[in-house]
Amino acid sequence: MRPLVETLERRIAGVLAAVTGVPDAAAAVKPTEDERFGDFQANGVMGLAKKLKRNPRELAQEALARLDLGDICSRVEMAGPGFINLTVSTRFLRAELGAMGRDARLGLDEAAERETVVVDFSCPNVAKEMHIGHIRSTIIGDAICRLLEARGHDVRRINHIGDWGTQFGMLIEYLRRTDPEAVRGGKTLAIGDLEEFYRAAKARFDEDPEFAEAARREVVKLQAGDPESLAVWRVICDVSRRKFEENYALLDVRLDEMGESVYNRFLPEIVADLAARGIARESDGAMCVFLEGFGAPFMIRKRDGGYLYATTDLAALRYRVGEMGARRIVYVTDARQKEHFRQLFAAARLAGYAGEDVRLDHAAFGSILGADGTPLKTREGRNVLLKDVIAEAVARARKVVAEKNPELPPGEQDAIARIVGVGALKYFDLRQNMTSDYVFDWDRMLALDGDTAPYLQYAYARVRSIFRKGGVRDAEYAGADPRVDARVEARLGLWLLRFGETVECAARECRPNIVAGYLYELAARFTAFYGECPVLKAEEPARAGRLRLCDMTARVLAAGLRLLGIEVSERM
Ligand code: ARG
Repeated sequence: MRPLVETLERRIAGVLAAVTGVPDAAAAVKPTEDERFGDFQANGVMGLAKKLKRNPRELAQEALARLDLGDICSRVEMAGPGFINLTVSTRFLRAELGAMGRDARLGLDEAAERETVVVDFSCPNVAKEMHIGHIRSTIIGDAICRLLEARGHDVRRINHIGDWGTQFGMLIEYLRRTDPEAVRGGKTLAIGDLEEFYRAAKARFDEDPEFAEAARREVVKLQAGDPESLAVWRVICDVSRRKFEENYALLDVRLDEMGESVYNRFLPEIVADLAARGIARESDGAMCVFLEGFGAPFMIRKRDGGYLYATTDLAALRYRVGEMGARRIVYVTDARQKEHFRQLFAAARLAGYAGEDVRLDHAAFGSILGADGTPLKTREGRNVLLKDVIAEAVARARKVVAEKNPELPPGEQDAIARIVGVGALKYFDLRQNMTSDYVFDWDRMLALDGDTAPYLQYAYARVRSIFRKGGVRDAEYAGADPRVDARVEARLGLWLLRFGETVECAARECRPNIVAGYLYELAARFTAFYGECPVLKAEEPARAGRLRLCDMTARVLAAGLRLLGIEVSERM
């Protein structure tokens, strides 16, 4: 469905071009904030008049005389210094909404060109628990994937886990000494607390020189592909993987693992390639790519011959473009890695690993803060674990549900609590402007009023309850035209129409918060409509026409929340 704002832009810009002879004249059409100015406003005349040194009101009048928008608008008028205010006609709105309602995709078009898009997200590190720092990447990354999938792209959800590096020497050595049976594969390894295991290995490494030496030898063996070392490495990765997967299951997030180790075999070749072409140079024994406009060079091999995070990322990027056919790669990490990705992208362009036809995005996000404004930690000063946060969200939601619906059977309350708790957690994150830090706040997250998932899920359940209460059958309203006669109806209808363009914009810009903001406004407009217009008690044809608005609102709410990875419940 072509966005209405675009159609208006094209039509008015065409007239402005004809009137002034300026071929690329912009009408600058926008939805109005204040409905006194109609539904849309074109602001382009003023700038154009200034450029042509003409009186803007006169120019606007001239354009109006030639502008025929009778098929779309009921009112087109000049206002103020030369604005053009537009009010969409009931007839047009009714027809457009009718078409959108009959469309299973609710007016959300697939992209003209299906592209392979790699979304690199979540990416926890082996032998470490996923903590709250990973929550944003997992939740935002999943939403970005859903948005791109909804646009019909071939999305590769890649978990670039940290499963390689010098820390494995100490982990392997530690496991070998403390749990030889697990190493031999004799029993399943019980590293209950990965953080604890990592800490213990690290402590031993720092305190015991003999152990540290053995750990260093272990790194060399591992990198040389020693089968026994690799086997122990695999045991440690497996335990971690099982832990990660528990979290993904709770969050209903799907990921394909392609960890850092995958690219290990390409690293020497990357350095050799860049060196041979003069893109990387030796500096103080290390190999670096010197990029213009950056403070520090991009190091790809250390003095001691070791490779870096950056080298792996270059190899991964080249693989994704060259082997996987990615036309776009989106990296979802916290903003502290901004410089790394700026350098990575610049180096990849310089090396030709990503041509101009490949889009590289760093979807950077801010930190989650505690009430005191510093990064969130437990009372003991440790990282807050993702699984604990999920458990608490669900437990708190369970209380809210029990208060609201004491009559529901406990099993159903549990199921709703899971949807509400996980939804609240996700939405609270997704609604934020991605780049800003935000303060974690249980009460605000779970509030039934305000910009929260429970509020939107409740709005959905409330619409559905209209149908339940009235015992409404589809046939009673499915064939009717949506009703948009009253202002509150039209405002709801106009907002519904913008679903497709909203998702398209959010997918293009990797900003799920655009969808969150849209849904919140949708719920507000529905509330205004429902407060003023009776539905079940209305006379026909108003009743059926309003039921159609209700039905579309519910469908858009559910579809929009789904795009954010949030489920809805028929009751709440
Ligand atoms: N494992 C890294 C971390 O925990 C994130 C990796 C992000 N992806 C990438 N291709 N660098 O910080």
